[in-house]
Formats: sequence, structure tokens, C-alpha cells
Amino acid sequence: MPWVRTAVTEFGRLPPGVSVPPPGPASRRLAARLRRVESRNVTWLGDDFPIFWEEARGANVRDADGNVYLDLTAAFGVALLGHRDAGVAEALRVQGGRLVHGMGDVHPPGSKVVFLEGLVDLLENAGFHPREGCRALLASSGSEAVEAALKTSHLATGRPGVVAFRGGYHGLTLGALSTTARAYFRMPFRQRLREEQVAWGTFPVSADSLEESLHEVEVWLADGLPGGVPVGTVIVEPVQARGGVRIPTPGFGERLTSLARKHGVVLVADEIYTGLGRCGSVLASQRVGLDPDLVCLGKVLGGGLPMSACVGSTSVMDAWPASPGEALHTSTFLGHPLACAAGSAVLARVAGGLPQAAEELGGRLRTALVGALGSLGGVREVRGMGLLLGIELEAGGGVKVAKEALRQGLLVLPAGDQGEVVELSPPATLTRQQERAAVEGLVRSIGTVLGSG
Ligand SMILES: Cc1ncc(COP(=O)(O)O)c(C=O)c1O
Repeated sequence: MPWVRTAVTEFGRLPPGVSVPPPGPASRRLAARLRRVESRNVTWLGDDFPIFWEEARGANVRDADGNVYLDLTAAFGVALLGHRDAGVAEALRVQGGRLVHGMGDVHPPGSKVVFLEGLVDLLENAGFHPREGCRALLASSGSEAVEAALKTSHLATGRPGVVAFRGGYHGLTLGALSTTARAYFRMPFRQRLREEQVAWGTFPVSADSLEESLHEVEVWLADGLPGGVPVGTVIVEPVQARGGVRIPTPGFGERLTSLARKHGVVLVADEIYTGLGRCGSVLASQRVGLDPDLVCLGKVLGGGLPMSACVGSTSVMDAWPASPGEALHTSTFLGHPLACAAGSAVLARVAGGLPQAAEELGGRLRTALVGALGSLGGVREVRGMGLLLGIELEAGGGVKVAKEALRQGLLVLPAGDQGEVVELSPPATLTRQQERAAVEGLVRSIGTVLGSG
């Protein structure tokens, strides 16, 4: 099948498309150079992967060969506002002209204060601990926000045990990794991970497994983990994203919250993927009945710059003692001025209707995909919440579709422990034309993969 590229894009109308499938010669040359200089385990360099990005606008990405793609990943879920959003770009221009780096926890940039006020206001207005108020601890990556949550919870409870869930992904730094479920990531580092301090329960996606899941969690909270380790933390994604867009069965969120309260355990919602509008509300926790003490945010938060946060009720966050002059937990780039400026532009958009836009677009995409794929043999389920959607196929199907979709001009990622899900987390800014192209391209790609057995 010849490589077809999107004719009308946010870069303007393009000359007729090239006829070689991606990656083109420029991407191949970059891959050869990268192979020499990057650690072997980072970028997967295959015959048909990857393309190298040069430019991105809205939902379009242009690669080193000039080919244009429709990005249905928002680059790992980050670009919910679209790539190079005008408000973010302007905030960066202004901040970049004044101060590019500051001293986050010593002589902080003013933009850190503005950003934190915006973040706390947004969450409190959305119903996150509005009465007692909340405080935040900033970081740069999602994994670091999880580290901050685990440390906060440990200070608040003094109990080292953590209950997490199978299918959960919380990051790859050592502390976060110790709670990430997939053995693939943990195995090589097991001896460093204090595995006796973590247990993984069942994340119930159907009513059948709800009671058993909650019972198991309750035993751990009441009696400690096997070996007697007392539990101070429950960490859960409201919707498991990288685990395959897995939505918990109704009742799970409310009952997990009650169990955490009853046993005095800190409940952490890892909203790094789901938060800030992705799932159709400021926090996805609100949609699945979770009432967490702490939330971890990242991805969308920095508008494309590295920014993450652990935000919690004041009473739990105040487990951190006042600083005597040397912070117990900080980092060189904490409260980075550029990321704070970009982040403030993002927060204004989240407060100004971004979650609703995500919900509407996600609803239309889901309806169209269910209509086109729902009865296709080989498609197990089309599901989603807001603008986080998953199409479940057989094991490995998501990986095959990601490669085929690239040839069709679409960027998608596989998800799920067995690469069985096509994960979609596009920008909320897709035009109607892009929306149609997305559905048509996905249906063609999945049809090709299923047809070729
Ligand atoms: C739910 C969740 N938690 C944590 C992380 C880790 O974030 P980062 O890759 O920025 O460290 C991710 C990344 O995909 C995630 O989806």
C-alpha cells in the first residue's frame, strides 16, 4: 500500500505526497546516527520505526522527511491543548525574555507563585479539598510526582507498606518503579526495590471481580502485607492508561476511598495521564468516585515543558515539617520559570472549558469507532473516558496497528500488558476534518491488520 499523507494540514496545503512508506531517508539517517550515541535501551530502532519529528502544530506533526501525520497520542498525552498552543507559546516568549532559570527552593521565581496559586485554585474550585485547602510540591516528571506522593504518605503515616494494582503504571524511577505493576520493568532491578513493601491487588474492570478485589485490599490494610509490613499508602490510577485504558467497575472508587479512610491510609490518585481534562473533568477521580488525599499530576500540566506536581489536602501535606533552611525534598529545576509560565497558560485553559471540549470530542470519537469497529471480529472492545480511548484487540494487536497506522499517516501507541490495546489520547483541538480522518485511518489500519491475520 502506498504511503498516503494528509493533504490539508495545519502547515497549509502540501505538495503531492511522497510514495515511500515512513520512515523516509532522512529519518533513517537520523536513526543510524542515534544508534551510535544513545544508550541501547531507549529508542526502539526497527526497519519501520521510528520517524523523527521536526515540527508540530495542533494535531499535526511533520517529520524529517517532510511527511505530515495526525497525532492521536498528543505525544504521550501531553499536548491536550494541541502542539505549540498560541497561549503557551506567548507565555514562553514573555518568560523567556525575562528569566529562563531560577533558584526554585532558595530564591524562587515569581512565576512559581503564580503557577502554584493557579494550580491550587483550580483543584479547590473543582472540589478537591475545598474546605481545608490544599498545597502542592512541584517536580519535573511524572515519576518524580509519584516519588513525592510516596514520601508524603510515608511522613504522614509512618507505615512503609503500599497497596497498588495490577495493570498500574506509576513510572520508572526506583521509588515509583517499586509500585509499577509490570514485571518487565521491575525484574532487572528487583534487588533494589523492597518488594516486600508492596502488594498489587486486582483492578476490577467488571462487577465479577469487585468484591474479591476490595476484600483483598481490606485484609492488607487491616493486617499488613504478607510478612506483617503495615500499609500506609494506596496508589491507584482512576483509569489505567498505559495498562490498556482500563476503567474501573462502578462502586470501586467509592469503596476504595471508604477503606482507605477507615484504616487511616493515604489514598493517592495517580492522575498523571488522566488529570487536567483528559478524561472529561478536571480530575478523573471525580468521575470514578475516588476522593483521594493526594493527586499526582504531570503530562498536560506543563504545556509541553517538564512539570509535575503532587497536590494534597493541607493536613496530609503538612506532614512535611517546616524547612529549617535545607529542604528534605527538592531538585535543581523545581518550579522552573519557563515550565511555570507555560503551566499557568495551561491551567487557565483547563479552568476555561478544556475538560468539556475533551468530553465532547471523546464522545464523538467513541461513538464513531464503536459504530465502525464494534461488531468487527477481532475487536474485543472500544472503550474510553473523555479523550482517553482504547480499542482492545488480540495480544500484540495494538503494536501491529501502531505500525500500520504510521503508514496511514496516524500516530497511535499500543497499550496493555500484552500490547493488545490501541491507545488514543489526541489533542482536544482536532478539527472536524481531522476527526473524520482519524476514524477513517484507524478503521483502515485495524482492518488491514485483522485482514492480514
Ligand atoms: C499514570 C502514570 N503515572 C506515572 C507516569 C510516569 O510519568 P513520567 O514518564 O513523566 O515519569 C506515567 C507515564 O506515562 C503515567 O501514565
